[in-house]
Amino acid sequence: MYDGHNRKINYLRVSVTDRCNFRCVYCMPTQGVNMLRHEEILTYEELLRIIRVVSHHGVSKIRLTGGEPLVRRGIIDFIRNIADLKTITDISLTTNGSLLATMATKLKAAGLTRVNISLDTIDPDQFQNITRGGDVNETIRGMEAALTAGLIPVKLNVVLTNIITERDLAYFVDLVHREPISIRFIEYMPIGESQLAAGPSIEEIKAMINAFGRGTLKPTLDIRGNGPAKYFYLPQAKGSFGFITPISDHFCGVCNRIRLTADGKFKPCLLSNQEIDVKAALRDGASDNDIVELFYNTIADKPQGHTLTNAGGETKFFRKMSQIGG
Ligand code: GTP
Ligand code: 5AD
Ligand code: SF4
Repeated sequence: MYDGHNRKINYLRVSVTDRCNFRCVYCMPTQGVNMLRHEEILTYEELLRIIRVVSHHGVSKIRLTGGEPLVRRGIIDFIRNIADLKTITDISLTTNGSLLATMATKLKAAGLTRVNISLDTIDPDQFQNITRGGDVNETIRGMEAALTAGLIPVKLNVVLTNIITERDLAYFVDLVHREPISIRFIEYMPIGESQLAAGPSIEEIKAMINAFGRGTLKPTLDIRGNGPAKYFYLPQAKGSFGFITPISDHFCGVCNRIRLTADGKFKPCLLSNQEIDVKAALRDGASDNDIVELFYNTIADKPQGHTLTNAGGETKFFRKMSQIGG
């Protein structure tokens, strides 16, 4: 299925909950957000129906997001049910990793292909500050469990903030040498009210990595993913580095995705307030064809690009990241 700007849409990001056991500063406001009530979120049956229907209209990749998708009860059976559809070739999940140590093997057995894990720093105090309470050792254990379970390639998401240090980079450089892991640095998108102090730029991070004396980053196209990251490798490394630049070099021209929020809205773009209510239609007796029509309307509404800058841009966003799933 192609949108009005000739972009092929084959990827649906499904937020299964707005809840999270962390409250990262770039994702949730200080005062928190009003959580959805249970009856407001789509049931697994409703989610599965939407996934089944859109999978007959070009969607072959599903990413489960949150909040934190692993805090929703029944997530493993849900993944098994998506895998059983046989129409989805890539089922991935974006997680803070804190629950992976106990769940990774079961997730793999259920049919999950791979995971992306948020890890902004390895410093326990800084990690606790940025996640407002998280334990970095749990996330590291989760990452190790994901590797052992074969949820590969494991990708780490590092949002660029001023807490990142040489020590973090040294750890990451060592990690890509040891493991088939991809470490992606992401420019902070200021869609909430939190104004984070600027971290290093992508170019500065690349220069710092090159300065470790373990070779110079070289671009590669050889990494599995459906997303916006541009990948680079070091000569002896098993893994790679990726850079995601929504601000300095946005990738809207090759965007392949639609989002579904936990409260049942199709969103054509992360950085726009447009939404189409699929939950209301479902609960009003919509047929499969009605769902297809809403999906096509969403694709037709997909904007050509966004105008977000470091300073925030002109759009006032109604939703926080935790209510969209990144
Ligand atoms: P794969 O490449 O398939 O592994 O996934 P991904 O990188 O698309 O997914 P992930 O959930 O790990 O997101 C990584 C970062 O990219 C997060 O900071 C997201 O908010 C950001 N991101 C993902 N999709 C979009 C998008 O469509 N637009 C923008 N601006 N940012 C996005
Ligand atoms: N800017 C960039 N990335 C963000 N994420 C959450 N909020 C932001 C933001 N404001 C990332 C998280 C997670 C992914 C879903 O999105 O680190 O890995
Ligand atoms: Fe939770 Fe992820 Fe948001 Fe952090 S970025 S609060 S881990 S959903």
